[in-house]
Amino acid sequence: MNYRHAFHAGNFADCVKHALLVTLIRLLQRKEKPLFLLDTHAGAGLYDLGAEEAQRSGEWREGIARLRQAPHPRLAPYLTLAGEERTYAGSPLLLARLARPQDRVACCERVPEVAARLRALFRANRQVAVHLRDGWEALRALLPPPERRGLVFIDPPFEDRNDYAALAQGLREAYRCFPQGIYAAWYPLKGRGAAHQLHFDLKTGGRLRDVLAVEFWRRPPLDPERFAGSGLIIVNPPYGFAEEAAPLLDVLVDRLGDGEGAGFAIERLLDE
Ligand SMILES: C[S@@+](CC[C@H](N)C(=O)[O-])C[C@H]1O[C@@H](n2cnc3c(N)ncnc32)[C@H](O)[C@@H]1O
Repeated sequence: MNYRHAFHAGNFADCVKHALLVTLIRLLQRKEKPLFLLDTHAGAGLYDLGAEEAQRSGEWREGIARLRQAPHPRLAPYLTLAGEERTYAGSPLLLARLARPQDRVACCERVPEVAARLRALFRANRQVAVHLRDGWEALRALLPPPERRGLVFIDPPFEDRNDYAALAQGLREAYRCFPQGIYAAWYPLKGRGAAHQLHFDLKTGGRLRDVLAVEFWRRPPLDPERFAGSGLIIVNPPYGFAEEAAPLLDVLVDRLGDGEGAGFAIERLLDE
């Protein structure tokens, strides 16, 4: 496995997915009941944007750097949680920062060195459990949570195209264990083909209900070899999510878009 998120941390796709993740969790936290937050593909949790990987790719300059230069009230909760100027908080740290005393966070990471960094980050935080384990397997092992309320974030590296099918399969299996869970599952948008296939698979594969696809593209996703945007499949979105997400995505299109062809869509794939 070659994927290393340190090259991509804080890029435009990270910003979009994390801003939507923060929106989801804040909506879920309108209820006082304890919430279980599961991150199946966690990464290192905190990234130094001055480090060699980030400097070499420079991807964050087209992402978080633009948002920090031109903040907007809609982005404020996410930007506050994303942290200081030269760093960027990955999803485990965002979840840990959002967790209230009654909430619990579990992060799974399969690469031992990355999991070790994550453990070091949360050494003093008893609310966060770090598991060196396969995230797909963790879906079956850790669900349903005793809290019976939870958000599951699935963010695989998409090193090969089979990850689209794995995502649909993983969602169906997790949903079988925990149908009342809220799921947010990330996928890249290159050409339209793979995303259409994923949507078709989710619509026709049975089992799932109440599913949205939220997509953002910096430029029109026409070339299957070129990373143009990303999507989040959201199962059981909380009430009011689409209404909160649309104006947020408008701001992200304005700040992160690459000219006229940038845009977003919120599509209902399956009804409640
Ligand atoms: C896209 S990155 C995660 C980024 C992170 N979720 C964030 O938003 O900050 C994917 C991570 O999953 C890890 N990974 C790959 N396959 C995995 C698996 N089967 N189970 C758990 N982690 C895996 C990779 O090592 C990598 O750190």
